[in-house]
Formats: sequence, C-alpha cells, structure tokens
Amino acid sequence: LETRNTEMGQPTTSAADMFKQPFVIGVAGGAASGKTTVCDMIIQQLHDQRVVLVNQDSFYHNLTEEELARVHEYNFDHPDAFDTVKLLSSMEKLRHGQAVDIPNYDFKSYKNNVFPARRVNPSDVIILEGILVFHDPRVRELMNMKIFVDTDADVRLARRIRRDTVEKGRDIATVLDQYSKFVKPAFDDFILPTKKYADIIIPRGGDNHVAIDLIVQHIRTKLGQHDLCKIYPNLYVIHSTFQI
Ligand code: ADP
Ligand code: C5P
Repeated sequence: LETRNTEMGQPTTSAADMFKQPFVIGVAGGAASGKTTVCDMIIQQLHDQRVVLVNQDSFYHNLTEEELARVHEYNFDHPDAFDTVKLLSSMEKLRHGQAVDIPNYDFKSYKNNVFPARRVNPSDVIILEGILVFHDPRVRELMNMKIFVDTDADVRLARRIRRDTVEKGRDIATVLDQYSKFVKPAFDDFILPTKKYADIIIPRGGDNHVAIDLIVQHIRTKLGQHDLCKIYPNLYVIHSTFQI
C-alpha cells in the first residue's frame, strides 16, 4: 500500500496517507437552530480527542462603505455573503496538517477582524459549522459526516429575537424586518434544500441527547479506525473488503 502509479502514470494516495487526514464534520441548519450548542456538546463529549471548531461566520465578506451605510438592506443569509474560496483554502490547509489563522467575526461592527485572528491548529476532528456549509459541493466534499440541526421555525425565531436584542443590541423591529425580508426566504431557498445532503438530521438540537450520544459514539469508532490504519496501514485491505 505504498504510493503507486496508475496506468495513466498519476500517483495515487496510499491508504496510510488517506487515513492520516482528520475527520471532518459539517453541521448545518437554520440560524439559531442550535448548531453551536450541538457542536459544543460533541466537543465536550470528545474531551480526550483533539477537536477544533470552525465557524462559517468567520468567512463573511467585509462590507464596503456603501453596503455598511445601507446595512439593513444587506442579505447575510445568501450564499454570496460568504467568501467560500477562503473557507475552502483554510479547510484544505487544516486537512493537510497546517495551522490557519481564521478571522473573528464581529456581529456588531459587521467586520471580520483579522487582527487578532484565531490560530487554529490541525486536529483529529474538524467541525465546520454554519447555516450554509452544505451549499457548495466543494465544501460538502471535504466532509466525512454531515449533520443537519432541525429546529422548528417558531423556536428559531424566538431564540433569534432574544439573542439579537440581548447580545447584539438590535431592536425588535429591525430583527423582525430582517427575518421576513432575508432570513426566512433564504432558509426556504438555500438552507432547507441542503437538508437532503445530511447523513444525520437532529430534531430539537441540543435537547436531543440521544442523537448527540450516538454521533459521538460513531465519531469514536471512526477515529479508532483512523488510529489503527495509521499504525497498521495494511489493515485497510481488511477494512475495505468488509466495506465491499
Ligand atoms: P446556532 O449556532 O444554530 O445559531 P445556537 O446554538 O447559538 O444556534 O443557539 C441559538 C440561541 O438559542 C443561543 O442563545 C442559545 O443559548 C439558545 N439555545 C440553543 N439551544 C437551546 C435549547 N435547547 N434550549 C434553549 N435555548 C437554546
Ligand atoms: O450563528 P448563526 O448561524 O445564527 O448565524 C447566522 C445568522 O447571522 C444569519 O441568519 C444572518 O442573518 C445573521 N447575521 C446577522 N448580522 C451579521 C451577520 C450575520 O444578523 N452581521
């Protein structure tokens, strides 16, 4: 199982190399559905593993002066609001064992603060969380497991009103206006259609302890296979035979 050449003369990746890559989990779902809560619970239960969380929010485009002046007309829920090329390159680096600097997004100033950026080190598990992480096929292809957090729209709206007024200092009228103009249509047009790509759908988000326990068990099993294949690369032969 060394690196070898195909008939076309292209080198193929050895099984050992393939299994050195981290286990990438995507967590999508509507805004305020409980994605961050679910990720935190998974990370907490995987306490003995090296896990990092990457938020899609960190890849929001910075707004121009013109867009900032009319920020209430800006659609933060559209796929074009994100710099997906940058997200892809950061994820690729992490997957290949390089540390990356990820900006901290500030919801109050609408700015991605590159300084100080968050240094993210390569890890055994990388969790990528965000409303639209299943939208771009190139991002989906990076994922070994896809989770969709499915929470009723009224619960999401209620949580959003509380969060945006209390934590982001916005007024209720602005929150409701943004919800009806952008958040709800984008959920229907771009987020909900990506549910079909999920391997696992979690109803009720962080309240669903059974689902989170099962997910953590599955990740542990997969990480065990990674570790075995790192130590005994030839095990891949046995493993792949069973898969077939
Ligand atoms: P997302 O990452 O999908 O936007 P969060 O996990 O940040 O969602 O949750 C959004 C808000 O709802 C937060 O203020 C959080 O504290 C609250 N929240 C999340 N899950 C629950 C829950 N199960 N019960 C009550 N409040 C919750
Ligand atoms: O954390 P969560 O998944 O809820 O973040 C996504 C939401 O943040 C989107 O629904 C978007 O409308 C909102 N957002 C915002 N203001 C910004 C950036 C994003 O209200 N400056």
